[in-house]
Amino acid sequence: MNERKPRVLVTREVFDETLDYLRLHCEVIDNQKDQPYAPEALAQALAGCDGLMCALTDRVDAALLARAPRLKAVANIAVGYNNIDVPACTARGVMATNTPGVLDDSTADLAWALMLGTARRITEVERRIRAGEWTGWRLKQWLGVDVHHATLGIVGMGRIGQAIARRALGFEMKVLYHNRKRIAPELESKCNAAYVTLDELLAQSDFVVLQVPYSPETHHLIGAAQLKKMKPSAILINSTRGGVVDDSALVAALKQGTIRGAGLDVYENEPKLNPEFLGLDNVVLAPHIGSSTEATRKAMAMLAARNLVAALKGEVPPNLVNPDVRR
Ligand code: GLV
Repeated sequence: MNERKPRVLVTREVFDETLDYLRLHCEVIDNQKDQPYAPEALAQALAGCDGLMCALTDRVDAALLARAPRLKAVANIAVGYNNIDVPACTARGVMATNTPGVLDDSTADLAWALMLGTARRITEVERRIRAGEWTGWRLKQWLGVDVHHATLGIVGMGRIGQAIARRALGFEMKVLYHNRKRIAPELESKCNAAYVTLDELLAQSDFVVLQVPYSPETHHLIGAAQLKKMKPSAILINSTRGGVVDDSALVAALKQGTIRGAGLDVYENEPKLNPEFLGLDNVVLAPHIGSSTEATRKAMAMLAARNLVAALKGEVPPNLVNPDVRR
C-alpha cells in the first residue's frame, strides 16, 4: 500500500536533526532561509498541509485555521502559546501542543542573568568601558546593589518560577511568591518560598520577577499602579511575555525613579520595543533569548516535532494543550 505521508509546514529555520526526524514521518515544507511568513503567505502555504510546526512569531488564529481545512495539528516551538487561538483550534478539531519542561532551567538562568546584570549594571558599565569612560578605580564608582540576602518576589510559580526560586537558595535570599493557586507545601519548602498577595510581594521585594503566562487576565498585570507599590530601590525582571508589563508605564517609572531598574527579555510589540528603553541606563535589554541555548532550543524543536508526528499518527501528543479536542 502506498500511503501518503502527511504534509507539514515548518514556518521557521530549525536544526537539521529536527528536519531529519520530521522527514522520516512527513513530507516537509521547510523554511531554512528563515524568512518569516506574512499572514497571507502563511495561509497559502498552509492550505494543503496536515500539520504546522510554528513559533511564537506566527499568529495561528481562526481566520488562518479556516483556510487550512486539512490541518490536524499545530506544534508550537515554545512553552507559551498565546500566539495560538486554542479555542479556535479545538472548535476545528485541531490539536495544539507546546514544549514545556525542556526550557525551565535555561529560562530560569536567563532571569538570573537579568537580575545580576541589572543589579550590578553590567551592560551599562560595559558600554562605558567601550566608550573610553573608565579612567581608573574609584570607591564610589558605578555602585550597584546586592542580590545576595535580598528579597526575591516571583509572580507566577510554575515550573520556571520554581527553578528561579531554587537558584535563590545559593544567594541566601528571602523568597516570596504569588500565584493563582498556592503550590504544594513540599514545593514551597523545596523553593524556600512563602506565599503572599501580589500587593505584599510588590511592597516587600527587592527583585520582582514575572513568570506568568500571557493571557487577557495577565495583560498589563504590572502597570503604573503596581510599579508605584514597589520599593524605589527595587528591580523588575520580565522574562516571560511582552504585554504582562505596561511598557509605557515602565519607561515612565524608570525615568522618574519610581523603581531602580529593570531587566527585560520580552516587550510589547516585539521586536519594535518602546524606543525610550534604548535611552535608559537603568534597564538591561535582551532580545527574547530566555530559552536560547543550543541544547535547549534543540530540545524544544525536537519536542515540537515529536508532538506533531504523534498527533498526525492519531496518538495523543505528549504536550497537548487542548485535550478537549479529542473528547
Ligand atoms: C519562549 O518564550 C517560550 O514560550 O518558550
